[in-house]
Parts: sequence; C-alpha cells; structure tokens
Amino acid sequence: MIRKPRRIGVLTGGGDCPGLNAVIRAIAKTADNDYDMDVIGFMDGYEGVIENRYRELSNKDVSGILSLGGTILGTSNQADPFHYPVLEGDDYIYLDRSSQGVRNFEKLGLDVLIAIGGDGTMAASARMMEKGLPVVGVPKTIDNDLAGTDVTFGFDSAMTTATEAIDKIHTTAQSHHRVMIIEVMGRYAGWLALCSGIAGGGDIILLPEIPYDIEAVCNAVKARNAAGKRFSIVVVGEGARPTGGNMVVDRVIDNSPDKVRLGGISRQVAAQIEGLTNIECRVTILGHLLRGGSPSPADRLLATRFGSEAVHLVARGETGRMVALRGGEIESVPISEVAGKLRLVTPDHPLVNAARSLGISLGVPLHIPIEEYLEQEKTPS
Ligand code: F6P
Repeated sequence: MIRKPRRIGVLTGGGDCPGLNAVIRAIAKTADNDYDMDVIGFMDGYEGVIENRYRELSNKDVSGILSLGGTILGTSNQADPFHYPVLEGDDYIYLDRSSQGVRNFEKLGLDVLIAIGGDGTMAASARMMEKGLPVVGVPKTIDNDLAGTDVTFGFDSAMTTATEAIDKIHTTAQSHHRVMIIEVMGRYAGWLALCSGIAGGGDIILLPEIPYDIEAVCNAVKARNAAGKRFSIVVVGEGARPTGGNMVVDRVIDNSPDKVRLGGISRQVAAQIEGLTNIECRVTILGHLLRGGSPSPADRLLATRFGSEAVHLVARGETGRMVALRGGEIESVPISEVAGKLRLVTPDHPLVNAARSLGISLGVPLHIPIEEYLEQEKTPS
C-alpha cells in the first residue's frame, strides 16, 4: 500500500516577488486543516535543501503573512544543486551537490517538496525528480514568462507598481514637454512592458520580442509633437533591442544558472531619440522596485489558489506536476514539459493588436504588419 504523504518541504527559489508569503501560508494552512500534514520550509531556495537549513511552518507560523512582500523563507537565484557554488580559497568552484539534497530530504522524513519558483527553479526541480525527489511546482515571477500557465502570481503586483509609476511620470513629462523613457524588468519577455505600457497610457512601447526601428520611434515622437502633444511616454522592456542590435547586459553573475542580468537599454533609447529629434529626454529605470511591496488582491487570490491546489496534488499523490492557471481554472501540468521553457509575447497577441489599433507605436514602421517586419529583421539585406 502506498504511504499517505505526512510531511511536506517547501522552498521559494529564484528572484522574489509579491505573493510568495501568500502561497506559503496557503500551503501550511491547507496541509494542516485539510490533511493534518506537517510542513517545513527550506531557507533560501535549494540552498537550504543542500545545506540542511529549514524551519517549521505550522499553521500558527504563517499567521499574518498574507500581505507581506518578499518571502519569510528567503530565496536564492544562485543555488543550482547540480552546479553548486562552493568557496575554495578566494574562488568559487562548482560541485554537483544534488545527491546531498536528496539525502537531507530523506533524513527529514519528507514525502514531497513543493518548489515555488520560476523557470530556473522548475528546471532544477525536473532534474531533482530524476534523482528520485518527488516535487510539486508552483509558478511565480513578475516576468510572467513561465510556459504552461496563463499567468504567474507576482505579475499583477509588478504591473500595478509599474502602471502607478508611469502615471506619475506622465504629469512631469507633460509639464516639461519631455520624452520620458521608463524601463521595466521582465528579462526576455515583454509582458510587463506591454501590459503596464498600455495600462499607463504609454505612447511608445518597446518589447524584447519586437526589435525596434529607432526611426519609427522618433517618427512617433515627432508626430505627437506635430499634433500639439509636446511630450511622449516610452515604456521599454529591459530586454528590448534595436533591429540588428543586441540586448544591453548590465552584469554577468558567474554563480547564477542564468548568468546574464539585463538593464540599461533605456539610456541608449534616450540618447538616440535626443540625437535624432532634439527633444529633451529623461530616463527612469524601475528595477527592483517592481519586485517589492505587498501583493495586489489578484495576486493574493492566485497565490492562495495555487498554494492550496499544490497541497491537494500532494495528497492525491500527483507529484511531478506544476499548478497552473489555464482559461481561468486551476489545473496542473507536468514539470518536465514546462521546465526551462519561456512564454513570450507573440506578435499576434490580442494586446499587441490592441496597442496598434490605439496608435501606440511598438517601434515598427507604420502600416507594416508586424509579422512581415519581423521576417525582414530576421533576414537583413
Ligand atoms: O526574473 C525576475 C527578475 O526580476 C527579472 O525581471 C530581472 O531581469 C531579474 O530578475 C533580476 O535579477 P536580480 O535580482 O538577480 O538582479
């Protein structure tokens, strides 16, 4: 007879985002109230699993954390169990510590690990599963770029923060007749730029998925000026790049599974617009502000639904799966199918079409269908 799961381990991995504590709370409460299971939380993502650092997460321990930003467990985006950084002298060497992680998990008498994380955490979890560690995944990230789910929690809060910032920048842009460039996070996905750009009434939105033509950007600014609107709001995803050009890398972090950190493209865009239009530009990079603060009500609800469903999956013995929101319903998908895969903005996405219908420039010359433009970009003459 298969033993009923009695003890769950939980970790939060990768970059933090609003709503992580809401998931932890939902897991601990559902486990206790519905199944009388015990929960422990590993500290700092997979680092805690490898180094055996954890804390109890009783029903009482998670009281009052619903609206707290960050994660009470801590997190790390530099803790790949298979390529684990260990300081030797002044330098890091990288070791496969995955077996140590499995041993720690077993010694603690755990039945399942619930891994709350983004694509990096799901990829590491898929490999840990191959080593015999049963995992249930919960998707989080402000980037909203995880395959298999329509949305990740954390995204709505970050979008709200970005939209509020754009609203504020609007008034000063208007007063000074400037072009204001606002750069938002999102890595290789443009969801944050697209959604906050539309919600904040941006005039030009530049996405990683659609390399921009600087002339088209300047033409949009000039057209607004000619129409008497002497300011423009440009919302730029940190992964945006000009046609034929590259993304701007802010830093490379050797210890991190995904080593590249993007950032700074907005300065390049500002310099180019100023040079070509003679209109004063200013840059605001929202950066980690987007990851901070209290989760929005929508994220609290999604995180709560995800956390509860993760425990129901554990109870039903359905490990190896990630909870997901699909068509408004909470479902689950195999972790192996989504691990390491990104969900990017597609050129035919309804929000892309809506933006164009509203006259928002996406850095694409007017009247050229986006698909045709992207084809030309792929095959430079
Ligand atoms: O994946 C979340 C995210 O905030 C990205 O949008 C951003 O590119 C990256 O993490 C920043 O990472 P770090 O916190 O290591 O600077």
